[in-house]
Amino acid sequence: MKRLACVFGVAIIALLAGPGRAVAQPGCLDCHDDMEAEAFAKTVHGGGDAAQVDKACRACHGAFEVTDDGHDTPDPVNCGTCHQDSAKVTAGSVHHAQREGETRGVGCVDCHGAHGIEKVPEGTPGNGRRAANAMCAKCHKVAMEEHATGRHGMSESATVATCVDCHGAHDVLDRKDPRSRAFRLNQAATCAACHLDPKRTDLPEGSQKMVADYFSSIHGLAVAKSGLLVSATCVDCHGSHHIVGQKDPESQLSRANIPALCGRCHLGVETLYRESVHGEFFARGNTDVPVCTDCHESHAIRAKWDPQSASYATNVPELCLKCHADQALIARNGLTEMRSETYNRSYHGAASRLGDKTVANCASCHEAHDIRRSTDPKAATHASNLHQTCGRCHKSDDPSAWMAIGRIHLTTAQESHWVAALVQHVYWILISFTMVFFVGFILLDLRRHFRNR
Ligand code: HEC
Ligand code: HEC
Ligand code: HEC
Ligand code: HEC
Ligand code: HEC
Ligand code: HEC
Ligand code: HEC
Ligand code: HEC
Ligand code: HEC
Ligand code: HEC
Ligand code: HEC
Ligand code: HEC
Ligand code: HEC
Repeated sequence: MKRLACVFGVAIIALLAGPGRAVAQPGCLDCHDDMEAEAFAKTVHGGGDAAQVDKACRACHGAFEVTDDGHDTPDPVNCGTCHQDSAKVTAGSVHHAQREGETRGVGCVDCHGAHGIEKVPEGTPGNGRRAANAMCAKCHKVAMEEHATGRHGMSESATVATCVDCHGAHDVLDRKDPRSRAFRLNQAATCAACHLDPKRTDLPEGSQKMVADYFSSIHGLAVAKSGLLVSATCVDCHGSHHIVGQKDPESQLSRANIPALCGRCHLGVETLYRESVHGEFFARGNTDVPVCTDCHESHAIRAKWDPQSASYATNVPELCLKCHADQALIARNGLTEMRSETYNRSYHGAASRLGDKTVANCASCHEAHDIRRSTDPKAATHASNLHQTCGRCHKSDDPSAWMAIGRIHLTTAQESHWVAALVQHVYWILISFTMVFFVGFILLDLRRHFRNR
């Protein structure tokens, strides 16, 4: 209606001016008065001068003739005539591709609008890109909702991750496209662009070390070196949009959810763990028992054959004894008394400390995950199974050779039994005596040698 009235108005002005006189073409905004000359002039395409607005309109809409009655339908606007690079990149993105049942992909106007385009602020990643979140949210409502309620979305940092940081702007690709920043094998690098940046001060304290650890972990190396698609990446553990801290109870990283998280890929281990004595007490909410990350860490996870791994054969005793030699923890849980010395002094223990990885460590006899009380008939340490457990390494046909040692772990009380104490004392005396005797003998011999010279 408004426009019709406007056309009518212009026509009257033209009539009053009379025929034959040169009349300037009516301005675009004379009819299209839903746009404001001042405001439009301030946009990036507006030219800055409200008096010159028509020129700016025509830069996009082209040179068509306008009469008092209006005009023919202008040619469609092609942003690409001026922004060739943007057009080229967008053409190769997921948004350009035409989907079945749709007439066109996502065009420039869907993201930027047409008449209110502002200059995009420049700067470090994240800087000013927050505004871009709103562009994407027009269509990706779910992703935006998840992002907005996550740690990145709620952060006050001006340079925190936005849609554009993880997906790009014109070059957005499908997450299954190997070139996409969101592709499984590229995810760690996408996150690390910020999370390993030493200049940043807006990251959780100490987290950069964790992130660096990931890259030298078995999971990180499997991605970087072998391109193993099923290895764990940041996103498997943290999620992509709804990233929340470990303390959030709904977080899949909260202690209560760790076995399930790792079990998504290590299902066999998770099952063994849940049936073990540790798993049994974990299910009851005991916070002293270990979960996967207590024994394996979260980022610095290494294979059991890696000497730096906590699950490497000679490191296992230290790992278990962190708790099983902790007197306060033992008392709190009514555990069998287990002093570190009882293993350390054994043949296995002494050899293990010297770096021998063929001798038995705690896990060789107790298993690593399927740990049960020795009273449980299914336990590897149950009397009826020892033959098999020890026999894995001791192949001798005569088990009495190695089964004769009786109890594996002696308690303090057993160790201080008078017979044991006596034997130990006699040993010490014998050894000292022998040492003194031979040292003296050598000294005397040397003395004679020098005298004779
Ligand atoms: C005399 C009045 C008048 C003037 C002056 C005028 N227009 Fe229009 N314009 C119209 C009318 C009427 C329509 C059709 C209205 C509709 O379909 O909504 C229209 C439609 C348009 C459209 C939409 C075409 C489409 O496919 O929907 C564009 C773009 C446009 N005008 C641009 C301009 C530009 C740029 C100028 C200045 C160079 C201008 N107009 C000047 C009256 C005018
Ligand atoms: C940066 C390029 C650009 C400039 C500059 C521009 N337009 Fe447009 N205009 C477009 C595009 C693109 C569309 C189509 C929008 C769509 O498809 O949703 C459009 C649509 C229109 C339409 C029809 C749809 C509507 O919004 O009602 C009119 C009328 C119009 N423009 C008028 C103008 C006038 C008047 C000016 C100058 C004040 C102007 N345009 C400046 C790009 C531009
Ligand atoms: C999916 C949404 C989206 C689409 C589609 C899109 N853009 Fe952009 N564009 C953005 C975002 C977001 C930025 C800011 C980029 C940044 O901060 O790195 C941007 C930046 C720009 C810039 C300024 C920076 C630069 O890269 O030169 C221009 C110019 C531009 N876009 C033009 C276009 C044109 C032309 C098209 C259509 C061919 C288009 N855009 C399509 C989202 C989009
Ligand atoms: C006639 C040429 C022309 C057309 C057509 C055109 N633009 Fe532009 N555009 C420019 C110029 C010139 C600038 C200003 C560049 C500058 O200031 O660095 C600009 C700036 C921009 C910017 C801001 C760039 C920045 O550096 O922040 C965006 C975004 C943009 N245009 C998007 C579009 C979109 C979307 C369309 C189509 C609807 C379009 N342009 C059509 C010439 C054009
Ligand atoms: C106008 C609507 C619209 C806007 C705005 C838009 N998108 Fe999209 N986006 C789509 C459509 C449609 C698809 C294709 C979905 C498909 O093929 O399943 C898509 C696909 C994607 C995909 C690939 C999805 C996948 O499965 O891997 C990503 C990532 C994406 N968009 C991110 C963005 C980002 C980032 C922005 C903002 C810069 C944005 N989109 C803006 C409509 C939009
Ligand atoms: C911290 C990085 C990051 C940010 C920020 C981010 N994404 Fe994603 N996004 C990803 C990753 C990684 C995937 C792939 C997830 C997967 O493979 O399961 C993804 C997947 C997607 C998908 C396709 C699958 C799905 O979950 O719907 C869309 C669409 C998408 N993102 C849009 C967005 C939009 C819109 C924003 C901004 C509100 C955004 N993303 C912010 C990393 C991010
Ligand atoms: C195997 C699962 C897993 C993988 C893979 C993983 N994380 Fe973590 N991440 C965790 C857990 C669990 C925590 C909680 C702290 C802990 O237990 O050490 C955490 C903590 C963090 C924190 C610290 C949060 C805080 O509150 O201080 C950041 C930042 C982080 N991870 C980023 C990353 C990045 C970036 C990647 C990829 C390069 C990644 N993580 C890979 C499991 C993982
Ligand atoms: C553009 C930079 C940037 C990118 C890319 C980025 N982050 Fe972040 N991230 C941050 C900043 C900044 C914070 C701190 C936010 C705060 O606490 O205010 C953060 C916080 C976190 C936290 C801590 C949550 C908490 O409070 O404990 C985790 C976990 C995290 N990011 C994981 C990721 C993952 C996974 C990716 C990749 C999918 C990723 N980030 C990509 C900048 C980024
Ligand atoms: C009490 C400490 C402890 C806990 C808790 C623990 N592990 Fe282990 N894990 C080990 C040790 C020790 C090894 C090395 C076993 C060996 O040398 O045979 C190991 C080995 C592994 C291996 C290598 C394959 C194998 O079975 O030898 C994987 C995978 C693994 N653990 C995953 C997990 C997952 C997943 C969880 C949680 C459900 C978990 N671990 C809980 C100590 C633990
Ligand atoms: C997305 C799947 C996935 C998730 C989730 C995952 N892992 Fe893994 N993990 C793997 C794959 C695949 C390998 C084998 C990598 C290789 O051998 O190169 C592996 C290897 C390991 C190893 C080394 C096994 C060995 O040979 O000694 C350990 C230990 C391990 N993961 C523990 C964990 C723990 C603990 C968690 C949870 C915090 C976890 N993983 C979560 C897929 C996953
Ligand atoms: C984070 C501390 C922690 C670590 C590490 C740990 N345990 Fe435990 N373990 C416990 C707690 C607590 C219990 C007792 C659960 C209960 O009965 O309340 C337990 C129970 C046991 C039991 C049953 C003991 C009994 O008297 O009922 C055995 C056997 C055992 N653990 C062996 C191991 C072995 C072997 C390792 C190393 C591979 C290990 N544990 C690592 C905390 C730990
Ligand atoms: C050579 C095999 C062997 C090694 C190595 C070993 N254990 Fe045992 N452990 C046993 C057997 C067998 C029992 C059953 C009681 C006994 O004979 O002392 C037992 C009993 C225990 C108990 C008492 C609970 C129960 O199930 O009866 C704990 C706790 C324990 N061991 C922890 C450890 C820890 C921690 C280590 C490593 C520092 C370790 N063990 C090393 C074989 C072993
Ligand atoms: C992981 C392999 C392994 C397991 C399991 C194992 N041992 Fe051993 N053990 C060794 C090695 C290697 C030696 C070094 C001497 C040798 O080669 O016989 C050794 C030495 C010994 C010794 C002292 C040296 C000797 O030959 O007299 C005794 C006693 C012994 N083991 C008993 C046991 C008993 C009992 C069990 C089961 C509860 C057991 N071991 C389980 C590997 C193992």
